[in-house]
Amino acid sequence: MADTRIERIHAAADFISKRIGGAEPLVGIVLGSGLGVLAEQIDNKIVLPYRDVPGFPASTAIGHKGNFIFGTISGKPVIAMQGRFHYYEGYTMELVTIGIRVMKVLGIKYLFVSNASGGCNPAYRVGDLVIITDHINMLINPLIGPNMDEFGPRFPDMTCAYDHQLIALAEKVSAELGIVPRRGIYCAGSGPSYETPAEVRFYHAVGADLVGMSTIPEVIVARHCGLPVFGMSVVTNVSNMTTESKVLNDGDDVVRAADAAAAGMSAIFRKMIENL
Ligand code: HPA
Repeated sequence: MADTRIERIHAAADFISKRIGGAEPLVGIVLGSGLGVLAEQIDNKIVLPYRDVPGFPASTAIGHKGNFIFGTISGKPVIAMQGRFHYYEGYTMELVTIGIRVMKVLGIKYLFVSNASGGCNPAYRVGDLVIITDHINMLINPLIGPNMDEFGPRFPDMTCAYDHQLIALAEKVSAELGIVPRRGIYCAGSGPSYETPAEVRFYHAVGADLVGMSTIPEVIVARHCGLPVFGMSVVTNVSNMTTESKVLNDGDDVVRAADAAAAGMSAIFRKMIENL
C-alpha cells in the first residue's frame, strides 16, 4: 500500500524542483525565530511561500515567516526554510519535519539549523551564540510510526547528531570573524509555556545549557536520512532559576534578542557555506 507520508514529501519536492528549474541545493538551512534575515542575503532568490507548496501548512509562530527560499550564498546553491513548524502550534510531527525530507529529496548534502533559546547554563548571557554539540529530547520522537525505509533505518544512531567537522569549521570561521561562540547542549520541550524554575534546574542538572521548543525533531529526521547537521542557537533570555526572579519570559523579547544577534549568526553561516 502506498505511504501517503512519502507521497506528500515527493509531491512537495516535485513542486519545488520545477520552480527552481531542477537545480540541486547543496545546503538546507532552517531559520528560526528572528533569524530569517539570513534569507535576505541569499542571491538570485526564488521565494516559494509554504502555502503554495502542496501538503504544507502556513507557518504561524511569532517571528517566523513561511517561505522556502532558493538561491546562492557565495555562489553555492542553498535552500532556506524561512520559518519552521512547531509541535506547540498543533502540527503533527510529520508536518514539523516534512521540510527536512523534502530538502533531502531535492539533493541537499548538509543541514544547518538555527534557533532561539533560553540559557539554562547560568554563565550564559542574552545574545550569546552557541554551537550545539548534542541534545536532550523532551519532545516525542518524530520517527514514531512505520519506518520510512526509503529515508533511513528503523533505529538510527544519534551518537554524533551534530557533525564534528562542521563544528570545527564553525569555530575556524568564527575566529576569522572575531566572534567567540560557546559550545552547548540543547534541550527541547514541547512548549508553548516556558519552563518553571524547577524544570530549568532539572534540565541544567542533567547537562543542558540551552532550552527551547524546536530543532530536535528536524535534527533527528535529518540524521535518520544521513545528513550531516550543524546547529546554532542564540540565547534570547536567561532562564529563571528561582520563583523569585523578576524578569519574566516574553515571546516579543525573545524575537528582539534574536534579531539583535542575527547578523553574527548569519556571518558565520555564510562563511561556513563559502568553505563547503
Ligand atoms: N524556553 C524555551 N524556549 C525558548 C526560550 C526559553 O527560555 N527562549 C527562546 N525560546
